[in-house]
Amino acid sequence: RALATSDPFYPSPWMDPQAQGWEDAYAKAKAFVSQLTLLEKVNLTTGVGWEAEQCVGQTGAIPRLGLTEFCLHDSPLGIRGTDYNSAFPSGQTAAATFDEGLIFKRGLAMGREAYAKGVTVLLGPVAGPLGRMPEAGRNWEGFSPDPVLTGVGMAASIKGIQQAGVVACAKHFIGNEQENFRQAGEARGYGFDIDESLSSNIDDKTMHELYLWPFADSVRAGVGSVMCSYQQVNNSYGCQNSKLLNDLLKNELGFQGFVMSDWQAQHTGAASAVAGLDMSMPGDTVFNSRRSYWGTNLTLAVLNGTVPEWRIDDMATRIMAAFFKVNGTVGKQEPINFSFWTQDTYGPIHWAAKQGYQQINHHVNVQTGPEGRHGDVIREVAAKGTVLLKNTGVLPLKKPKFIAVIGEDAGPNPLGPNACDNRGCANGTLAMGWGSGTANFPYLVTPDAALLARAIMDGTRYESVLSNYATSQIKSLVSLDNVTAIVFVNADSGEGFINVDGNMGDRKNLTLWKNGDDLIRNVSSWCPNTIVVIHSTGPVLLPWHDSPNITAILWAGLPGQESGNSIHDVLYGVTSPGRSPFTWGATRESYGTDVLYQPNNGKAAPQQDFSEGVFIDYRHFDKANASLIYPFGHGLSYSTFGYTNLRIQKLPAPPYRPTTGTTAPAPTFGAPPASNLTEYLFPSASFPPIYQYIYPYLNTTDPRAASADAHYGQNASQFLPPRALDGSAQPRLRASGGAGGNPGLWDVLYEVSADVTNTGAVHADEVPQLYVSLGAGAGDPRVMLRGFRRVSVGPGETVEVLFRVTRRDVSGWDVGVQDWVVGAGEKRVFVGRSSRGLELSGVLG
Ligand code: NOJ
Repeated sequence: RALATSDPFYPSPWMDPQAQGWEDAYAKAKAFVSQLTLLEKVNLTTGVGWEAEQCVGQTGAIPRLGLTEFCLHDSPLGIRGTDYNSAFPSGQTAAATFDEGLIFKRGLAMGREAYAKGVTVLLGPVAGPLGRMPEAGRNWEGFSPDPVLTGVGMAASIKGIQQAGVVACAKHFIGNEQENFRQAGEARGYGFDIDESLSSNIDDKTMHELYLWPFADSVRAGVGSVMCSYQQVNNSYGCQNSKLLNDLLKNELGFQGFVMSDWQAQHTGAASAVAGLDMSMPGDTVFNSRRSYWGTNLTLAVLNGTVPEWRIDDMATRIMAAFFKVNGTVGKQEPINFSFWTQDTYGPIHWAAKQGYQQINHHVNVQTGPEGRHGDVIREVAAKGTVLLKNTGVLPLKKPKFIAVIGEDAGPNPLGPNACDNRGCANGTLAMGWGSGTANFPYLVTPDAALLARAIMDGTRYESVLSNYATSQIKSLVSLDNVTAIVFVNADSGEGFINVDGNMGDRKNLTLWKNGDDLIRNVSSWCPNTIVVIHSTGPVLLPWHDSPNITAILWAGLPGQESGNSIHDVLYGVTSPGRSPFTWGATRESYGTDVLYQPNNGKAAPQQDFSEGVFIDYRHFDKANASLIYPFGHGLSYSTFGYTNLRIQKLPAPPYRPTTGTTAPAPTFGAPPASNLTEYLFPSASFPPIYQYIYPYLNTTDPRAASADAHYGQNASQFLPPRALDGSAQPRLRASGGAGGNPGLWDVLYEVSADVTNTGAVHADEVPQLYVSLGAGAGDPRVMLRGFRRVSVGPGETVEVLFRVTRRDVSGWDVGVQDWVVGAGEKRVFVGRSSRGLELSGVLG
């Protein structure tokens, strides 16, 4: 079988001094980097090693100029592994709010917490995985399999995080769609005999129209950093894939920040440098190996000419520019006041080496910021992101006579909310998935606690059975008269380094955990008023959904610390619920894609062909006419809404102008490095190196011995692609030219508006959604989301919602032209309540 290949693209683009929004940052970075020695530049690019300092990743410092180490730290939903921080709802739950402003507020609050802990770079948000497969373990860290919804989520989160003075990190770039085989070493640990990581094989059109789209939005939002992914794309590793990093990200999208490797995702030294990697994380080749592809080896590579001087200058400038972009000031960085590795107050600051005993945790309470208590934002996001899938009229609750809450998922983990390391278990109510994308709970309001408190206020009889297996007790309780039974169930997943019950990150199936389906079937067979609440990391199968005894179904996603309060707010009609950020298929097969669970290429890289192209989630269901239960975008409210009066206005937009011309040649900053290797030795014999720490220095003037590389001594032409070292002026791509691509892509071609009327009796939120069809025939999805707006409407009230349709919204990626092109087909626009509830439509003339 001929394996997919990835085109080479060299040289690696250098920063553009005129890039919009980066001019100031660039000028400051240039001035700073111009003062640096080669060793200092290398120190910025290379992490100091796994567990070498307090954060999950840390760069070297430049004490001579007052720059302290950059702290790179998880996660996309809070500050991982610390204390007195908040635990936010997942990205996926945030997406379900369909509320851009609220997603921004969540990002800002997370940014505030990160800043106050001393974090320089917060490792989120996530657009990869996008959600090609519903079983994929980390989908919940991101937003939605729809690229537009994810793009909006990314941009709003990035703006929020960076407004707080923290560099955001769009990850994982790109095609990181499953956990199984993401790293060969991890897979070997699970008994798979493979030597290379999975290859996600993605064609150019699919790459642009689907997976790259939200990263373009991230770059447009000014994101300071991007994390390249573990797996390969078209059989070239994510962190040394020049097509991805040099061509797509830095050239076409015009990304001016820096690319860091995922932890141990780097596989080469000079090759990854010229392919576009700017920062090695955590710095050692494998954790605690005491060796690095960069560090000493990057110093040597610059000195021996295998990495050009302009490239190390560009790396350093990009890193510093990201810092200045978010208003960082050298010498005024917030000190790191926690240690990820322990919550003890005192301990070794150099955790791996067990050196530097001192106070390492200052237990700073960051749960309240200038905007107020973050718990309030968390409660609001989780409630507004809870989706009311079904409601026969039983909701909202109004002082019910008798509530029976059933299921382990309503109660606490008896061992405590943070009992399982990295949340690697599903005991008690599920409020986040597992892995690096987590944070410790400062508290966790369980559904049982919140609903009990409300029942007491209302005079409602209340009993709960917090077990899925107490069948006889459950039966006798819910068989009583007047019962409103609320069954809580869940399905969990997470990152591949943890295996929970045979789920190696990715879910094994789409069924509920812990006998949840039987629990629901049982309760609903005994109780004619059974409400189901699902906490999960994505869709689950709902084989019981049309039972008349099941009077309501809610998807509460992963709500974070305020779980019980937010489900209370939706059940009692305090807060309007959200919309589903993915499709609820009838069967696992109905999704048309699945995780690759068995290697399929011998010991070599397992091959995952994205042969469905852009047809994932609702685009697939529409094309295949596959049976689904609830469509993408669906969600009931406690009122009803009418859609009328679609108006389409064509605006006079300037013609699309392909970008032309050339860049400036690559600059170098500061004095050229000294050629005498003695200049690069450890500073003095009395300098006490920390055990396992990664330094830029040489330990001997014999370069081969200093490098510890068996292949040392090859020159660039022997192992690097042609043009890798070329610093001359380069032609600019026609699809490039601004942040996120050619600025003409954001010209507004049409304004589309519609009237949305609340035809019911209560104030409620509605989420009008705009879809387009490009009329390009079978190769084209039936409809694609292009915009949405969450509006709050009083009874009888009508609001006008306005959507701006850009050139990008009606273009497809033309592989031949290598640009976005507005095709000839008749384009239509739809406005409605879900991907299958397209109330209004018209032609985009
Ligand atoms: C690996 C994960 O893939 C990434 O998302 C995370 O930021 C790093 N580990 C650091 O924990």
